[in-house]
Amino acid sequence: MIRSAAILGGGVIGAGWAARLIENGVDVTLFDPDSAAERKLSEVLANADRAYAKLTLAARGPKGGHRFAPSVAAACEGADLVVEAVPERLDVKRKVYAEAEAAAPADALFASSTSGILPSDLQAEMARPERLLVAHPFNPVYLLPLVEIVPGARTSPEAVERATALYAWLGMKPLVLRREIEAFVADRLMEALWREALWLVHDDVATTAEIDDAIRFGCGLRWAQMGTFQVFDIAGGEQGMRHFMAQFGPCLKWPWTKLMDTPEMDGALIEKIARQTEEQAAGRSFRELERIRDDNLIAVMQALKVNDWGAGETLAAYEKKLFDQGARKPPEDLSRPIRTMERRVPADWTDYNNHMNEARYLQCFGDATDAFMRIVGADADYIASGLSFFTVETHIRHLGEVKALEPIYAETQLLEGAGKKMRLFHWLRHADGRLLATGEHMLVHVSLETRAACEPAPAVAAKLAEIAALHAALPAPEGAGRAVGQPR
Ligand SMILES: NC(=O)c1ccc[n+]([C@@H]2O[C@H](COP(=O)([O-])OP(=O)(O)OC[C@H]3O[C@@H](n4cnc5c(N)ncnc54)[C@H](O)[C@@H]3O)[C@@H](O)[C@H]2O)c1
Repeated sequence: MIRSAAILGGGVIGAGWAARLIENGVDVTLFDPDSAAERKLSEVLANADRAYAKLTLAARGPKGGHRFAPSVAAACEGADLVVEAVPERLDVKRKVYAEAEAAAPADALFASSTSGILPSDLQAEMARPERLLVAHPFNPVYLLPLVEIVPGARTSPEAVERATALYAWLGMKPLVLRREIEAFVADRLMEALWREALWLVHDDVATTAEIDDAIRFGCGLRWAQMGTFQVFDIAGGEQGMRHFMAQFGPCLKWPWTKLMDTPEMDGALIEKIARQTEEQAAGRSFRELERIRDDNLIAVMQALKVNDWGAGETLAAYEKKLFDQGARKPPEDLSRPIRTMERRVPADWTDYNNHMNEARYLQCFGDATDAFMRIVGADADYIASGLSFFTVETHIRHLGEVKALEPIYAETQLLEGAGKKMRLFHWLRHADGRLLATGEHMLVHVSLETRAACEPAPAVAAKLAEIAALHAALPAPEGAGRAVGQPR
């Protein structure tokens, strides 16, 4: 899709974009005048790497590289995409575009991360304004899928199309705004809530922790899966939104809210809020809080994926891309045991001892089997056509322990691959070579329509036969054909 990106500004948002792009194989060049930018980026990349290891069971593709450039111009040379994430000031952003445009390729897409400045204002002084749009992300950029795409008056439809495809490819949910408006959609909503929250603290109605509890134990949980309108539609009971509006519409006329007023942001209010939020942190560092937030976000998205809903649908689409990418790269040498799985042990795969729990050994072997199936052509399209392999028998030997976040891989030998049968032998190893487990699996080819065994399609049968012939020359794996309790 794209190979390289320039990131201008490596703060909270620039570093988050860097993490998402690098994870998806894009080479990133950053410019940031802050001498602490490199350290901050490496900390964000470490947290993002940890988060991605948990996000999906699909094999992650090769990462892109990253380096820092000494100027905006140097960062933009040869870039397919220019991501602007400098401070929220129109003059600073326009100055950066002037320097970037002089150096970037003529067809590079310019994406501003601005939280609220109109793209028409951002592009006003550009030589080629048609390629600039706003791509407004949400923190943490490497996990949250939403990106608001806001075209300016002079943005070309082609740029919007390119951006929409690009962000979907990066695992995001692009929301194209119908027209530009300051602060777009999401920040308008968040600002209204933020204003009320500030008043509640200012007036000593509630502390920051109490307000956060009011969100996270109630409406916040709802918002992760349905938005305000759908939630209220259900809250209206059998008569839905019409009843809800009749009942609660009049409340909007009562002085429940402070409407457009904002409290004076004086030292006392800032101090009060900062002190209360520090108490909420209970001594946890900023990076530690980021990790807790990331773990919770991942858990929510994975739960939504089970229901094929909202952000879970976006995650499922991203995983499909990863699986397809992995499948497109069958190993060149099929005459040796084939590497079928490679990953770090996700932290939530471990038991109370911090060791990978028993069920996850089977999961690893299941993933290795899926990868082997894709190598022989029994991929997602094949399954959609109504044919697949079902596992009918499994034997696992647990031989070693492995801890959270440690790197592991699986290799697979085909013991039998003829007719309806496919017998696989997997080795699960730590990246240091230690053998952790072996798994032997008998699979039978089936028709998903009749649920009965049947011959594989000719192309799959031919690939299986080719690998079976090559693997027949390999020594029989130690432990193959074992039964439970058999002496070693
Ligand atoms: N923080 C958020 O939650 C959030 C969310 C969405 C969008 N945004 C938007 O993203 C942009 C960046 O915000 P942030 O939160 O990352 O701010 P930040 O202060 O964390 O980072 C800005 C970075 O830009 C660097 N910088 C300053 N001048 C520069 C220049 N001329 N060239 C290159 N780099 C320069 C600074 O050194 C700093 O590291 C803003 O437009 C903001 O509105 C922020």
